[in-house]
Formats: sequence, C-alpha cells, structure tokens
Amino acid sequence: MCWWLNGAVWTMMMMTISIISFVQADDPYRFFDWRVTYGNISPLGIPQRGILINGQYPGPDIYSVTNDNLIINVHNDLDEPFLLSWNGVQLRKNSYQDGVYGTTCPIPPGKNYTYAIQVKDQIGSFFYFPSLAVHKAAGGFGGFRILSRPRIPVPFPEPAGDFTFLIGDWFKHDHKVLKAILDRGHKLPLPQGVLINGQGVSYMSSITVHKGKTYRFRISNVGLQHTLNFRIQGHQMKLVEVEGTHTVQSMYTSLDIHVGQSYSVLVTMDQPDQDYDIVVSTKFVAKKLLVSSTIHYSNSRHSHSSSANSVHVQQPADELDWSIKQARSIRTNLTASGPRPNPQGSYHYGRIKISRTLILESSAALVKRKQRYAINGVSFVPGDTPLKLADYFKIKGVFKMGSIPDKPRRGRGMRMETSVMGAHHRDFLEIIFQNREKIVQSYHLDGYSFWVVGTDRGTWSKASRREYNLRDAISRSTTQVQIVSNSIYLTKNFKKSSQN
Ligand SMILES: *[C@@H]1O[C@H](CO)[C@@H](O)[C@H](O)[C@H]1NC(C)=O
Ligand SMILES: *[C@@H]1O[C@H](CO)[C@@H](O)[C@H](O)[C@H]1NC(C)=O
Repeated sequence: MCWWLNGAVWTMMMMTISIISFVQADDPYRFFDWRVTYGNISPLGIPQRGILINGQYPGPDIYSVTNDNLIINVHNDLDEPFLLSWNGVQLRKNSYQDGVYGTTCPIPPGKNYTYAIQVKDQIGSFFYFPSLAVHKAAGGFGGFRILSRPRIPVPFPEPAGDFTFLIGDWFKHDHKVLKAILDRGHKLPLPQGVLINGQGVSYMSSITVHKGKTYRFRISNVGLQHTLNFRIQGHQMKLVEVEGTHTVQSMYTSLDIHVGQSYSVLVTMDQPDQDYDIVVSTKFVAKKLLVSSTIHYSNSRHSHSSSANSVHVQQPADELDWSIKQARSIRTNLTASGPRPNPQGSYHYGRIKISRTLILESSAALVKRKQRYAINGVSFVPGDTPLKLADYFKIKGVFKMGSIPDKPRRGRGMRMETSVMGAHHRDFLEIIFQNREKIVQSYHLDGYSFWVVGTDRGTWSKASRREYNLRDAISRSTTQVQIVSNSIYLTKNFKKSSQN
C-alpha cells in the first residue's frame, strides 16, 4: 500500500534531515526532484491523458515540519508552460515563488525550476496544484502537510495513522478539451464523476484500521468547481484543524468541503468489526454524483454491508442553510498552540481598526465570444512580464494599479485588463465577497490567511457587521461564497508590494 511507502520515504527523509541538521544549525532542508509528464490514467474507468509527477497520479505527498526548507526541483516535460501553486502555504519571505500567475514565471516546456520554500511558523494540512491552463483537471496535485516540531504542544493525542484524502469533481476530457470549451464561449458542463485520491470507481481502494484506535484524515477539495460533502458510514468526525489553525474540537457527521479548502479530522474506530464506506458526493446540484472508498477494520472478515447509495443520505432539506450553519460553527481554539508554544488566540484581530472595505463581486460574460469571468467587471489578462518583476524593476505599462474598483459597478459590462489592486503596508482590510451567480464560488487569497468573520444569505449591508465573529473566527486561505449569499472577511496586509 502506498501508505507504507510514504512511511518508508518519510523515515529516509528524516534520517537525511537529522544528518544535515547535525552539520548546520540552520532549519532542516528537504530535497525533492520532480518530473512532470503526461501519462495514461483511468480514474473513471476510461483511459484519458493525465498529468503525473514522478509517474504518480495524484502527485506525491509532501511531508514537512514547521520551519523546514523545501527544495523542490520541478522538471516540466509537458508541451506547455507549467506552474505549481502551494495552496495556503504562506511564503512570506519568498512570495515570488508561491506559484500563481503574476508572482511566479511558469516553467517552460522542457525546462526545470527549483522552488525554495520555507514553511516558516506554519503547521497544518494543505495541497499543491497546477495553477495554469486548467491543468488541475488532469492532475499534478498532491497533499502537503506541515507537522508540528517536537515538543510544541498539539491539542490532541498522536493519531495511530494519518491519511490524505484528495477529493474533487472530475471530467473524462483532458484539460485541453475543457479549455477549448471555455474558448468556444461555453461554460463547463457538469462533471462526470467525483474522485477520492484519483479514483472514481467505487471500492477501488481501502484503508485498513485497527478497532479502538484514532486516525487523522486530511481532506482537501482539489476539484474544479463543485462543493463536496465528505462522510464516513457509522462514524463521527472530530474537526481539529483547518488550513493551519487548530479548531474548537466539535463532532460532525458530514462536512461540506468547498473547492480549495482543507480540513483535518480525527476518527475513532469505535464500531463493530466490518467495512465502512467513506462517501463523497456533490452538493448544490440537482444531479448528485457520488463515490466511495472503504475503511477496513483489521479484524473484520465481512465485506462492506451497504452500497454507497444507502450511506446515511441525510441530505438536509435546505442544503444552503445547513452549509452556512456548519461554516459558522467552525471556530479557532484560542488557547491551543499553533506552530509556536504560545496560544494561537493571542492575536486579537477583532480589535484592529479596519482601514478599507472592499466589496468584490464576480460575474461571467462572453468577451469576443469566449467565456470569461471577472471581479467587479474586470477580467484578468496575463501580462508579458510577471507582475512581481514588473513591480520590482519598475517596468511601466505591464499592469495598471487600481484598475479594479473597490465596489461592483453593475451594468457596465466586462473589461479585460492586467488588473492590480493596490494596498498599503499594514492595511487591515474588510473584504466582502458577493455571489449573484448560480454556482458556489471559492476565493483563495494566495499567500494570505484571513479571518472569516461572517457568512450569510442576501446582500451585505453595514448592519451585517453586528453579526461578525470578532473573537474566534477561523483564519484560513480559502473560503466559499455560496449562491445568493455573501461572506465577509478581514485580512491583514503583510507585504509592501502588490500581488495576487
Ligand atoms: C535543473 O536541474 C538540474 C539538475 O537536474 C539542476 O542542477 C539545476 O540547478 C536545475 N535548474 C533550475 C533552474 O532549477
Ligand atoms: C482547546 O485546546 C486546549 C489546549 O490544548 C484543550 O485543552 C481544549 O480541550 C481545547 N478546547 C476545545 C473546545 O477544543
């Protein structure tokens, strides 16, 4: 099983690291050599072209410890530029490597680039993914975990095992076909399946567990568009961490995981010896897609007792209200430690004066007969020079500062622009995302975490501020904005230069 392999690789890496850290007092280094290629995969039972890393789909899991230096040499053997983004991992010192267009140059075909990333003062569950050209629809993603340093308290006992679950919607067509659909002026159709760790045919994979033991599951939605619900037959999940923050430990029977989000839960194997289904299904769409995988109790001789379709299909009458309520229930454990021994609640975000309010609203439109998406009426066009470089070397004419308005201007149509929103060092922003479209939106503030202080249906008004959670909201990098609802965040601006 691949879990065993990971364990062996992990041990070998730990040995390498202890040797290096013996030699130098610097933070430990880990080295990766990755080759990105096309390859045949059949997640839905039909062969299609996928993107592999070192022959693997999904790509290898990155294991690291707080403050580690990760040196990742990526060789691009595709026929197109390739760019990896380290979702939610904050590269404060080297944000030019965080792998979104504008901060990092893509790796040209046939070339390689070495990312040098320090996971400074971070813990938690994340994933990496390719951020250009719909590559994510073909693979190139993998788990990324940052473990606590020894002797830093973690608010739960060491689990008996630690599993990554990468879940996502999936198409039978490869990324080039999907890109062509958008360029022909159409929206993407409904996906054809849902995957768990690259598999979409039920009962393809199972994990073996021991009765009475507790395991950690790190679940990330690596898909393109759809919110997915994650549940385990007969078992409760105790939420412990969200994108690097230890949470108030509450029990959930199922979790809505929106595109780009990562959750980590503890599951105690406290049920009779048999097999249980792990079920992932789409939400907020009329036609439900569903996939399952199996938890196998080591002493069990029975195979699973039910088919995936019968697994507590407790679909709430109002999915949206249920989901909003769940999102609001996720809070920070203020007294637990994060990456450092001091409590993660010692930063009182609720007392900081807001310096600016942004209302961001997305829209979809046809521009020159191509399907395009915009924020406050501006659809981003890549410039010929990465924005960070243009900013650093003061190259004029690459981007237009302040070209996205602070508020939506409805009825003005869509503009195409290499748009950049300016912010001042130490600004504290209130950002309101509004969604008037028919699908759930996910916003990722690359390189930043923000406090999700509220989420509701309807249009935001100043009165919404009375409902803000200014005490123990969760700090994360990605949040959903549901249909006809808005979410409100505060974020701190750490950096002087413009990006993202
Ligand atoms: C490309 O890879 C070679 C070895 O495989 C390495 O020596 C070189 O430094 C890499 N170049 C970049 C730009 O990362
Ligand atoms: C918060 O963390 C503290 C410190 O580890 C722990 O004792 C407490 O039980 C946690 N509280 C909740 C509600 O999760």
